[in-house]
Amino acid sequence: MSGRKSHRSSNTLVDLIHIIAYSKPPLSHDPTTASPSFKHCRATTPGTTAYLFGGKMTSQSAKTLLTLDAEAVASLKEGINFNKSQEDGKCYIIYKNNDGLRACKNQCKHQGGLFIKDIEDLDGRTVKCTKHNWKLNVSSMKYVNLPDSFLQDELDVDILDDGGLQLVELSPMDPWLADPREPQELQEGEVKVTYMTHACMEVQLGQKRFMFDPWLIGPAFARGWWLVHEPPADCLDQMCTADFIYISHMHSDHLSYPTLKVLSDRRPDTPIFVGDTSRPVFWALEQSQVKLTNINVVPFGVWQNLDEHLRFMILMDGVHPEMDTCIILEYKGHMILNTVDCTRPNGGRLPEKVDLMMSDFAGGVSGFPMTFCGRKYNDSWKAGFIKNERKKLLNYKAQLVKSLEPRIYCPFAGYFVEAHPSDRYIKDTNVKNKAEDLNALINKTAPDIKTWTPKPGAVLDLGLALKDPTNSAAITNPPANAKIYKDSWDFDLYVDELNSAIGSEIFRHRRWIQFYYTWAGFQNYNLVVRMIETDDDFEPIADSYDYLVDFMDLSYPAKRPDRDHAYVEVKNRIGVMRSVVLHGRLWDDLYIGFQNRISRDPDVYHHKFWNHFQTELPFRKPDWDQFLQQVPAIEEPETQSSCKLS
Ligand code: FES
Repeated sequence: MSGRKSHRSSNTLVDLIHIIAYSKPPLSHDPTTASPSFKHCRATTPGTTAYLFGGKMTSQSAKTLLTLDAEAVASLKEGINFNKSQEDGKCYIIYKNNDGLRACKNQCKHQGGLFIKDIEDLDGRTVKCTKHNWKLNVSSMKYVNLPDSFLQDELDVDILDDGGLQLVELSPMDPWLADPREPQELQEGEVKVTYMTHACMEVQLGQKRFMFDPWLIGPAFARGWWLVHEPPADCLDQMCTADFIYISHMHSDHLSYPTLKVLSDRRPDTPIFVGDTSRPVFWALEQSQVKLTNINVVPFGVWQNLDEHLRFMILMDGVHPEMDTCIILEYKGHMILNTVDCTRPNGGRLPEKVDLMMSDFAGGVSGFPMTFCGRKYNDSWKAGFIKNERKKLLNYKAQLVKSLEPRIYCPFAGYFVEAHPSDRYIKDTNVKNKAEDLNALINKTAPDIKTWTPKPGAVLDLGLALKDPTNSAAITNPPANAKIYKDSWDFDLYVDELNSAIGSEIFRHRRWIQFYYTWAGFQNYNLVVRMIETDDDFEPIADSYDYLVDFMDLSYPAKRPDRDHAYVEVKNRIGVMRSVVLHGRLWDDLYIGFQNRISRDPDVYHHKFWNHFQTELPFRKPDWDQFLQQVPAIEEPETQSSCKLS
């Protein structure tokens, strides 16, 4: 290639393309390869025009985003440079040192915020996001205040023969453009979208019915989240007669085992589709005792044909590719985009002008900051923080919708409430966005986009709505006397089940602590965590466990070590904590489910630690039978009284 040479090969981009282009190889403990219940779908389905990322590789394109002439290159200073494209006004960051040049877009990986120079950075290597203060070290392209977390996607820096340079983005073709289909006119009643509850939508497309993320009964995240809306009375029947079900990710407000238990009892061979995430969506199927026999793991970015007119494609999230996905459903050339909970769906590249788009909107979906105590975490700081974050999320969603210009937009996947009486504090303070507010903002900033705030059982007739967005017959709301909001929940059934773990025999032996954290496999990290079992009000309980784990060497000291170390103290409701330990569940149940209270010194988010316990625990639960065989027969149970901690 004459005229230019790559100044620096961009491994990050190559990796990114690999991630987008190929499904991940099976992991050694991948239950999807071990269980006959899982099928890995082929990259193409019969009848499709071949579109193979890994086959012909016709899809990659290179786009020059910024060109600097020799003079501009010569004037780049050592360290961080912000450079704007004269053509489209977009900004790029170029980092210069003795080793050469590195470059990236001025766009935060989180939610696309703009970076500015970080005035606290004395080395001149760090920029700070203006939205939520993530910091990026542009000399390494690592995000630093989420230690060991994300890498920024780099641009190729191509030096030209004349001394100028170009920043080049290599990217795969937008996969939904493969084998394009002309939209055909939809008849009344041909495509009907029915809102069930939370993230569960039923979509009838011709003769087929698709259902998204059925969470229809029971709580999510242990006992922390409960349904706001009363789902339609026939919702379980509808699920059990659906032709296809899509489950976007493993979080229990999307993958609801209590709900799927009903499906497994009545129609276990219903085809279920999930993306090929590195943490398999159904990683805990075996433990759940739910029997589903037709789970299909599909590669990312490839059309899956379901019939002559109907196909779908699953895409990964840019921030959590290991677990989050979203979906495009297409019928007779009309696209429905459901970005579900993705923080940055498909890395921000999404189809424009789809016929219907739906996404989350609410916020308030993590333990931070509501479950944090001490230091600045008083109620007024939390209220201010939440208000600010809500507003930012609302603006981000409105901006995203405006930029994608769907014909119709529907906010969903945010209809949960911390309904259990013991979570009153969270319920009262963890204020979320209202779907109506987001729609009002969209109506103001993008009046051509029709918005829909769904009530459970409400039906959108897509054909009618597309023909005439003002046609009130396009949306059928539930009857006036229909119950919209739940006012009671079956708390005891689910809380008792969680609490049944408290009396498990394993907790008679203090050695469960060592056995559990060895199984968890997290160490060589300078963090000491104190774990305290509590009652529902986060008060310590007599004869319960209160212990330290030193994750540097995976030891269990009686007091904090003398060396410098980060320290986190976590009070956990005993029933949920023991259930998590006993069944080898992810700590999302504790953290996202508001089932703990956390204080930390220093006040730093330990991404590596939380990411491990929230997404990387082993697929198979601890072998407690083996544990019980190992511990010596003990007449008297070991004492469980609290450690004396200084
Ligand atoms: S921290 Fe950058 S967008 Fe949130």
